[in-house]
Parts: sequence; structure tokens; C-alpha cells
Amino acid sequence: TNTKLWGGRFTGSVDPVMMQYNESLTFDRVFYSQDIRGSIAYARANTKTGILTQHEFSEIERGLKAVQKEWESNAFDIKPEVDEDIHTANERRLGEIIGKDIAGKLHTGRSRNDQVATDMRLWLKEQLDRLEDYLIDFVKVITARAEKEIDALMPGYTHLQRAQPIRWSHWMLMYGSFFASDLQRLRELRVRVNKCPLGCGALAGNPFGIDREAMARELGFDGLIMNSLAGVADRDFVVETMQWGSMLMMHMSRWAEDLIIYSTGEFHFVQLADAYSTGSSLMPQKKNPDSLELLRGKSGRVFGQMAGLMMSVKGIPSTYNKDLQESVEPMLDHVKTIGDSLQIATGVISTLAIDREAMLASLTPDMLATDLADYLVRKGVPFRETHHISGQVVALAERERKPMDQLSFAELQGVDGRFEKSVMEVFDYEKSVEMRSAKGGTSKAAVLEQIEVLRLALEAK
Ligand code: ARG
Repeated sequence: TNTKLWGGRFTGSVDPVMMQYNESLTFDRVFYSQDIRGSIAYARANTKTGILTQHEFSEIERGLKAVQKEWESNAFDIKPEVDEDIHTANERRLGEIIGKDIAGKLHTGRSRNDQVATDMRLWLKEQLDRLEDYLIDFVKVITARAEKEIDALMPGYTHLQRAQPIRWSHWMLMYGSFFASDLQRLRELRVRVNKCPLGCGALAGNPFGIDREAMARELGFDGLIMNSLAGVADRDFVVETMQWGSMLMMHMSRWAEDLIIYSTGEFHFVQLADAYSTGSSLMPQKKNPDSLELLRGKSGRVFGQMAGLMMSVKGIPSTYNKDLQESVEPMLDHVKTIGDSLQIATGVISTLAIDREAMLASLTPDMLATDLADYLVRKGVPFRETHHISGQVVALAERERKPMDQLSFAELQGVDGRFEKSVMEVFDYEKSVEMRSAKGGTSKAAVLEQIEVLRLALEAK
């Protein structure tokens, strides 16, 4: 005989490997409290339809709260032969506590299909709130540092070649703006996670006139999944979370890569705190940026989870199929990885030391070649011409084997007669940076405005 919850039509027992292959309690037990909350809301709604008496409801509620206590105190006794998943485990235990006559009425009109979708959405909603807090903290540290260290200058790069001087804060705020967009995306996708599938039944809907709106409200959802087939078939809310998390980790990985480069002896712009570094078992001098390398590495894992789930879902016929259970484990790991990564990244940026002298020493006068061209632009010479002239100055400095700012005024005039004495003022990094004062630029005022804009984005709920 088959003692499973659904065992009525079965005569044979299940292959032991199949039992283990099929069970999900090992991981979906994390939903125990969402499952219980959902069941209480469902029982309450079924009291209004007349399926349950008030007394039966009270018993179910009392029993479910007792089950909750058992999970919380680690006293829940799992019965591997019958407890297939969190839903069956909770219901089995409820029956033992309040008796099967009443417990057996709880599942009327409900399916594990709408139940698991409800549990997952409730769980994910809480997690997204937690991740939102981490993300806000992270961007707050970035803005605070950007404000405090606004005077530090460093080379800005394209193609990893020194390009133009920028403020260190400007570099930080580049990532700040990426992460602020991730925050916005998180808030947008939460709207779609926050819809209630409970009451969709196995697929076709509820035959007892259950008040889905009331259940959704009780569970804190903002509205319903309005098609019962969609309610049980949909894992888009998981896919979308992973797409979001993948984009976030893509940014995180680039950020980490920059800092790994900047922390090398060759650059020496930043030094990681001991708390986020590790040593070498062989080379005593080593201090390695493992935290950043893990951030970069874990992005791959997160992208894989996203692609994997999309592959699992794309070929499934409507509506619920067991393939959908494969969305649970990657979701759990994805959320954990994102949460851990955000906390590590916040720790890294909070404790990072910068070497302003090394940053400054990396600036070279040829990085002002554009400013030299712009000098003549301000005298009315077309930029295409000034670009060429400035290029000749770069070539001259290279021939003379001296930095561009060491060329004499006479030498500059030799290249173009329109250079005046004031041209020597071009070779000033601070001045170059302050020239970029249009919105979004690297001047102090423009950077301070970026900080303001970011801070407003953090508040906008
Ligand atoms: N553990 C299952 C899941 O995660 C619960 C739903 C099972 N429903 C079913 N009809 N087999 O998807």
C-alpha cells in the first residue's frame, strides 16, 4: 500500500531512488512559515465559504501554529517515507496534532500547485526586501566615500589605457549609478512578484467561491494572478529575479575587476583591508584580493542559474509540471549569493584604503593632450585641426624624450603660432578636471550633483 498523501489510486510502492529524486523537503523546508501563513489564510477563507466551521478553523489555526513552533525550535520530526515536500509535511503533522477529521478538510479546493507558487512568492518578497536594504547600504557607502574623497584625482581609462584625469569619486559614482539602476529594477520586479496565486487550485480555479482578494490581502500581496492556469504555471517571477540578479552581478564583477587591477603593486591605487583579503600558503609576502575575485567568480554561477532555469521552463507544456520544482534550488542559492555578495561588497568599499599619491603619480601630461587641443578650440580653431596640432606636440615630446609639460613655450610655438603664453596653464590636472563641469562630468560641482541625484534615487520607493 502507498501511505503518501495522494496514495489512494496507487498500489505499488515507489522506487527508493525515485523517492529521493522526487522529494523536495530537503530544500523547500525553508518555506515552512510561508506555507503555514498561506494555510491559515486559506482556512480562514474557507470558513467564509462554509467548508470549515469556526471551530474547525480555530483548531487548524492552533495546530498550524504548533507546527510552526516545532520548525522554529528544530523539533519538527521529518518522516522521510511520507514527507515529500514542505506542504505534505506540514499537513501530515497538523493531522497528528489536531486529528485527521479536521486537518483533512484544510486542502479542500487547494493544490500544492497554487500552494508552492504562493509559498515561493511570499518567501521571495521578504528576500527582495532584504536585498533592497543591502543594496541601499552599499550605494550609501559609495556616495559617502565619494563625498569625503572628492579631492582625490586618478587616471580615467578607456581600453585600460590612461585617457583623461578624473576624480576618484567620479569612478565610484559610475558604479553607484549602475547599482542605483539595479535598485530601480528590483523595485519594478517586486511589483510582479507581489501577486497572489492562492485559490487557483490545481489549474482550473476554485469551485467553492473562495474570496481570493481577502486571502491576498491577509498575506500582504498587492493583487492576484488573474488567470488560474498562469497562477500555477508561472515561474517568471523567479526568472526575472535571476535576470535582475545577473545584471547586478555583472556590475559587481566589473567593479571587482577594476579594484583587483587598482590593488596590484603596479597600480597601488587601493589597498584592501585584511578583513577581505587572504594570504598565500607558500609566499609569505602575498595579500590577495579574494573577496573581489569571489564576487567576480560568483557572477558566473548566478548567470548559469538564470540560463538554466530559462532552459528548464521554455519547453514545459501548460500548466504545472514537476519540472517547475527545479526553480526552487537555484532561487534559494541565487538569493543567498546576491545577499552575501552585497554584504561583502559593502564591507570591501567601507574598509578600502586609497593611495592618493599613487593615483596622482599615475597621471601623465600627455593625458592633457585633449585639453591642449581644446585650448586652441577656445581660440576659434576647428577641433579637427587642433586635434592634429596637439598630436604633433605629443610626437615632439616623444622625440625630445621629455614629458609634454616640459616642452618650452618656444617649442610649442614652433608647432603652431597660435599658442600664447597662457598655454602653459593647460598642464594642470586639477584644472582639466574642473573644466568638465557640464552635468555628469568630473568637476567637483558636477560630481556633487551626481551624489545628490543618487541619494534621491535611494529614497524614491
Ligand atoms: N514540491 C513541488 C514543487 O516544488 C510542489 C508542487 C507539487 N505538485 C504536484 N502536483 N506534484 O513544485
